[in-house]
Amino acid sequence: MTYVPTTRRDALQIAAVGATAAMTATPAQAKAGPSTLTFTEVGQGIDEMHHVPPGHTAQVLLRWGDPLSTDAPAFTPSAQSAAAQKKQFGTDCDFIGFLPLPLGSNASDHGLLCVNNEFVQSELALPGVTQKYDEARSKDFAEIEMAAHGHSIVEVKRVDGTWSMVRDSRYNRRITALDTVMTLSGPAAGHKRLMTRDDPTGRAVIGTLANCAGGITPWGTVLIAEENINHYFGGRLNGSAEDANHRAMDMTNEVYFNWFKYHPRFDLEREPHEPNRFGWMVEIDPYDPASIPTKRTALGRFKHEGAGFALAPDGRVVVYSGDDEVFQHVYKFVSTRTWNPTERAKNRDILDDGTLYVGRFDENRTLTWLPLVFGQGPLTQANGFNDQGDVLIEARRAAKLLGATPMDRPEEIVPNPVTGAVFLALTKNSKRKDTDAANPRAVNRHGHILELLPPGFEQGAPDHAALRFAWRPFIMAGDPQAPDSGAQYHADISANGWFSNPDNFTFDAQGRVWLSTDGAGDFGRSDGLWAADVTGSGRALSRKFFACPLGAEMTGPCFTPDGTALFCSVQHPGEVDGSTFDRPATRWPDFQEGVPPRSSVVVVQRTDGKPLT
Ligand code: FEO
Ligand code: CA
Ligand code: CA
Repeated sequence: MTYVPTTRRDALQIAAVGATAAMTATPAQAKAGPSTLTFTEVGQGIDEMHHVPPGHTAQVLLRWGDPLSTDAPAFTPSAQSAAAQKKQFGTDCDFIGFLPLPLGSNASDHGLLCVNNEFVQSELALPGVTQKYDEARSKDFAEIEMAAHGHSIVEVKRVDGTWSMVRDSRYNRRITALDTVMTLSGPAAGHKRLMTRDDPTGRAVIGTLANCAGGITPWGTVLIAEENINHYFGGRLNGSAEDANHRAMDMTNEVYFNWFKYHPRFDLEREPHEPNRFGWMVEIDPYDPASIPTKRTALGRFKHEGAGFALAPDGRVVVYSGDDEVFQHVYKFVSTRTWNPTERAKNRDILDDGTLYVGRFDENRTLTWLPLVFGQGPLTQANGFNDQGDVLIEARRAAKLLGATPMDRPEEIVPNPVTGAVFLALTKNSKRKDTDAANPRAVNRHGHILELLPPGFEQGAPDHAALRFAWRPFIMAGDPQAPDSGAQYHADISANGWFSNPDNFTFDAQGRVWLSTDGAGDFGRSDGLWAADVTGSGRALSRKFFACPLGAEMTGPCFTPDGTALFCSVQHPGEVDGSTFDRPATRWPDFQEGVPPRSSVVVVQRTDGKPLT
């Protein structure tokens, strides 16, 4: 079926497909320049396929709807149900964590893939649906959407270079927005602003949603982020004491789901405290299929993008997290206790006790971490904070009162385990007028990457718990050839090497950064994955490694411990204006009539089995 573009933006994207004949650069280009990377770059164009360099394979490993057990129904797009979805891989895969099996090993052929399922493109996923929001959508459809959100844990194995799911693994598990019981822990647990009709304790909540990126803890659990929670709460603000708090979290703006019609806890008027039970970081132990996920309130409530882990020199645990909205902030949590590397159970509640800080970036390229502690500075009753729970529930307001720097949409913030520099993706902010040193471009449409440098970084002994860092730019994204773009890369950047809208990071064994993007489609190019040296003469010489199919962004890059396999999420293929279930812009990856486009985890390997480089 031919997709007919309905808007100028679609036409632009389709026109760009023509450019994909030159999708692959010549080998001569691949060898040029001082980069230590050796793969041949892929091109910037968009077509219906994904692209990786010659000498590599890209295996579609897990698709939305794939059954996770032998008693799970096959994916039937025309006859979906919440009951089936609860036993199938969720939608819109994002964060991927590879956790080796057995626990504590360094296995690279066997492990658990822990994958976030962030969202549902209902108009692409459900038959007959043609628009993002429709209050009349049925209860069955609402509950399919709820069951498709959350997280999927899947045992995977590699045999002779091919990966597969272990379909009847005891570890395979779906965690959903529909029915997974979770606990709230930490300083805000039991707070009266977390109590609802269904949960007078303020400590038990059903479900997680808008799970974007995440992180792997040093003790082998995953921490998954609750990001754009405002899409899920309907009804009106009705003058309750929570209205200003809900406005600060963008509630009532861009509501995409009518769940509140059938599950009144999502109705702002009826349950003004329910939104306060979302916007946290959720810890899951994938090695214990019966474990109850826990929302760790000590890490604050905002639109968490992900979680970047490091250990302080004394063994305290540091977690970095960005708040992904224009003019929001960058945070880090420092635990009170130290990590216990020999007794895993001793780390179970370590994230419940510690200090949350927010970043202030100064013109002299220093970064000061400001504590969000009740009673300190402006965080007092005079400003409406009665306890630490209030500070954590309204972390955004507390951060602004402390004088934190409003940033250009903080996405992932992840320490480079080799160099100790903390990479921060600022994806874009077209609303910026007043610039500052850390956000130096007005109308920042392409975004940028900063490196945050803890003291001790130069000596190879970074102190991630310190309260004063330095920082420096890594890349100012955008087309370096465009006049006045302000883009900055290594001087040898190729026509395929530049990018827009950085989002997620991972690092290889040499400390090189592999970064994914979300937004290139707005500029007629494919989102995907780029890699770059971070030190030496090839620093900031980014090179394009993976091109996404039409309409998709790339998320969740993650290596096996031996670096021979790279998992990544192709999220929302086919998402362009006018594309629907019945008339999708692409049917990637199945290309089968009646089957809609399906977000999928793809694993990329070299044909010779060696580590990617
Ligand atoms: Fe879900 Fe900030 O990307
Ligand atoms: Ca993201
Ligand atoms: Ca994003």
